[in-house]
Amino acid sequence: MNPERTWWKNAIVYQIYPQSFNDTDGDGVGDLAGIIERLDYLDDLGVDVVWLNPVYESPHHDDGYDVADYRAIREEYGTMAEWEELLAGLHDRDMRLIMDLVVNHTSNEHEWFQASRTDPDGQYGDYYIWRDGTPAEAATDSPGPADRAPPNEWEAAFGGPAWAWDDEREQFYLHLFHEQQPDLDWENPAVREDVYELMNWWLDNGIDGFRLDVINLLSKPASFAGRDGSAIDDCVGGPRLDEFLAEMAAETYDDYDAMTVGETPNVGVEEARRHTGPDGPFDMVFHFEHMDLDYGEEGGWWELRDVELPELKEVLTRWQTQLDEGWNALYFGNHDQPRVVSRFGDDKRYRRESATLFATLLLTLRGTPFVFQGDELGMRNYPFESLDEQEDAMIVGRVTEAIERGDVASFEAVKELVRERSRDNARTPMQWDASERAGFTTGDPWLPVNPDYETVNAAAQRADPESVLAFYRRLIRLRDETPALVYGDYELLLPDHESVFAYRRVLDGEELLVVLNVDDEASSVDLSVDDATRLLGNYDEPTDTTALRPYEAAVYRR
Ligand code: NOJ
Repeated sequence: MNPERTWWKNAIVYQIYPQSFNDTDGDGVGDLAGIIERLDYLDDLGVDVVWLNPVYESPHHDDGYDVADYRAIREEYGTMAEWEELLAGLHDRDMRLIMDLVVNHTSNEHEWFQASRTDPDGQYGDYYIWRDGTPAEAATDSPGPADRAPPNEWEAAFGGPAWAWDDEREQFYLHLFHEQQPDLDWENPAVREDVYELMNWWLDNGIDGFRLDVINLLSKPASFAGRDGSAIDDCVGGPRLDEFLAEMAAETYDDYDAMTVGETPNVGVEEARRHTGPDGPFDMVFHFEHMDLDYGEEGGWWELRDVELPELKEVLTRWQTQLDEGWNALYFGNHDQPRVVSRFGDDKRYRRESATLFATLLLTLRGTPFVFQGDELGMRNYPFESLDEQEDAMIVGRVTEAIERGDVASFEAVKELVRERSRDNARTPMQWDASERAGFTTGDPWLPVNPDYETVNAAAQRADPESVLAFYRRLIRLRDETPALVYGDYELLLPDHESVFAYRRVLDGEELLVVLNVDDEASSVDLSVDDATRLLGNYDEPTDTTALRPYEAAVYRR
């Protein structure tokens, strides 16, 4: 299912993290009414599709990725009636809505899990992955009773073992993420049917597609014994994955004009080609190869590493050129990643220039671009001073465990790392204006507002034609008007250049040239652009086209 030209290839997607978008009732948490209030802002920006992070009923141990009821809206966010109003408001403005589908796991408060733990022989007894574990000598840091060891030594993504002991059922259950996020057992056909039913329920309610959370983890290995290390790494692309995904597509969205984007950790371009090609289950997938570049070779996530530009070019170029009939989902930030301008740009002296440079990269590559809320303002990482200021289950879980184990002496020892890695960097409230609490709320915001809000905010940028926001608008218009930017072939120029990222996009004789100086110093290149028309740039028209200024970005037509 990958037609040559279609609406979801042309679309610009805007990701809304509802908790931090706009609060209308003063409880410090964003809400659906807040999104409705800002629909014209999105329309003005040129957004075609909104991806809404989970808004379902949830105890929020992992910010909504622990769903307690798939058919109900979290009370803090509003009501189903407001959700319908939001959908209608989007559709009225020719925008579409995709919902986040989290079905690798549920919340432990979901009624399926509650029934599963209290009634092993009942209808939901086999909905989760329950095991007795093995008899063991007392193992001090293992979950469960002293004489039982979990089925294996897998580690969960948020720290600690991937197995938790349930006192009621007296068995271990598997959780790849938080202990409060038990994994569903996809081997059980009844689980699959229930999931398809809820997906169809949302499709029948009028949504336009799904973003599918960690969707390549559904099929677990046939045997658990003897496995250790990261549970996620071991579950990626499991034995029955393709079968489950094909069945899911056939039973649900294949019958609708829906857009699907799978979140697929550890996926390589070859698998992505299979997943998104003509016979694949998705339109596109999120891969992580460019996001992992700043992980250390030895220490991985625990080690910060400087990214060399040729490495970034190599990864992006491979994905640009090797997907064949598949399609790219393009992103440099989301609710799980630090802010792009802080991570890959210069968020101090060249904040505006580097934010607009990465916008240019995002919006001129082949694929569907996803803009994360606030990136269109060049929002930056938050200067966290302690772990107490953070809510992110991943950062708190990993760091607390490392301190308890003695692997890390104190928060101070990892402060720099935490500041760079915390997912809360992206989750601080949206900065609407320079009023107190950035116009996000009248109450006490659930996460602190970035102290830079007085200068970095939507109201100030709306009034400024040189702003990051104004540049995003122009860039989105340019992409909308230029099929070569959407469908054109991609060809990398200067592959080994240390600071300049340049490429061509070519379609039906039309040639676009994108030139980006990813550096805080000037660069000199000869790309013979003198005969080309400069369509857009983040500096004034230069007098000398061979000299690029710090973080200069420009798009030419030849
Ligand atoms: C990926 C989501 O984007 C992330 O926020 C979440 O913690 C995990 N999946 C688990 O659902």
